[in-house]
Amino acid sequence: MANPSLLILPGDGIGQEVMEQVKRVISWFGDKRGLAFDVSEDLVGGAAYDAHGTPLHDDTMAKALEVDAVLLGAVGGPKYDDLDFSVKPERGLLRLRKEMDLFSNLRPAQCFDALADFSSLKKDIVAGLDIMIVRELTSGVYFGEPRGIFEEGNERVGINTQRYTESEIARAARSAFELAMRRNKKLCSMEKANVMESGILWRDVVNEIAAEYPEVELSHMYADNGAMQLVRAPKQFDVIVTDNLFGDILSDCAAMLTGSLGMLPSASLGAPMANGRPKAMYEPVHGSAPDIAGQGKANPIACILSFAMALRYSFDKGDEAARLEAAIEKVLADGARTADLMGEEGGTPISTSEMGDVILAALDASL
Ligand code: IPM
Ligand code: MG
Repeated sequence: MANPSLLILPGDGIGQEVMEQVKRVISWFGDKRGLAFDVSEDLVGGAAYDAHGTPLHDDTMAKALEVDAVLLGAVGGPKYDDLDFSVKPERGLLRLRKEMDLFSNLRPAQCFDALADFSSLKKDIVAGLDIMIVRELTSGVYFGEPRGIFEEGNERVGINTQRYTESEIARAARSAFELAMRRNKKLCSMEKANVMESGILWRDVVNEIAAEYPEVELSHMYADNGAMQLVRAPKQFDVIVTDNLFGDILSDCAAMLTGSLGMLPSASLGAPMANGRPKAMYEPVHGSAPDIAGQGKANPIACILSFAMALRYSFDKGDEAARLEAAIEKVLADGARTADLMGEEGGTPISTSEMGDVILAALDASL
C-alpha cells in the first residue's frame, strides 16, 4: 500500500523554521516506527504571494485536496500589510479552510505541568487544565454574504453577515459531541442567543443533536459569559463548541491561560474522504511572529504537537501521538526552554533546532 501523503506548507516568518523541526520528527517516525509518509512541500501566504502574486496558487490548492493531510506553519507579516485585501496572506489560509470544507476546528488548551507558573492566572486555577474548543470554521461572519464596503448616501458602510444554516450548525455540533464522547462527556455550547437570531438557531440545533448523545451532559452559555468563565474558572469546561468568530476569540483567550501560545496545536477537520480519513489540516495556533523570525528563537512545540494531532486524527495512531506528546512533556520537565518559555528566574534559552534535538533524543529514549 502507498504511504500516506502529507503536504507541508511552512508559510511565512517562524513558520519556516518551526516546520524544519517537524520534518525531522516526521523522518524519525519513518525511520524508527515504520511510519513512512510521502511528503511534499509548497508555498502559502506571503511566500506564495512573492512567488506567484497570490497567497495560494491553484496548483497548491489542488494538491491540498488530494493529500491525506496538510501541515501548515503560519502566514502573514508586516511586509504584506498594505496589500489588497484579496491577496493578503490570510486569504490563502481562509481559502484552504473553505475549499477543503474543514468545518470542525479543534483547539486544545492544555497546561503543561512544567509551565503552570507562566500563566497570567494563578497556578491553581490553571494547573492540570485540559480543555478542547471546537470552532466552526467554514461559515458565519467570516464568509457570510453580503459583505463589503459600500457607499450609502454620503458615507461608506462596512458590512459582514453572520449566517448559519441548520446543517452547518449540526455538523459542527456533531463533531463536538463525538469528541465529548471520547473525553469526559461534557459539552458547553456558546453563542449570543440573547441578541442574535443565528444564536437562537445555533442553540436549537445543538439541542436537537444532543438527542443523539444522551450520555453527554450539555450546557449552554452566552459567549461573553463564556469568556469571563474561561478566565475565572477554566477547569469547569471540558469540550466547548462555538461559531467561527466567537471561536477565534475564545480560543486565543483559552490559549493564553496555558502560559504560552507557542505550545498549542490545532486540527481542522472536514468530511471523510474515499479512504475514510477526514480531510484535514494541522497548524499551530501561534502566528508568524515576524519580530523573531529567522533568529532561531521560535518554539517549535506547537507545530510538532500539530503533527501529533495528525497522527491521532488522520492516521489513527493515537499511541504514537501519545509517544510524541510524552517526549515533549519530558523535555519540558527536564527544563528545556526556548526564549518564549523563560520565566523570571532567567537562564539561557535553547534555540529552535536545539529544542528539536532534545525532543528527538526523548523520542529515541522512548523506544
Ligand atoms: C486563527 C487566525 C485566523 C482567523 C486569521 C489569521 C485569518 O486568527 O486561525 O485564529 O481569524 O481565523
Ligand atoms: Mg485567531
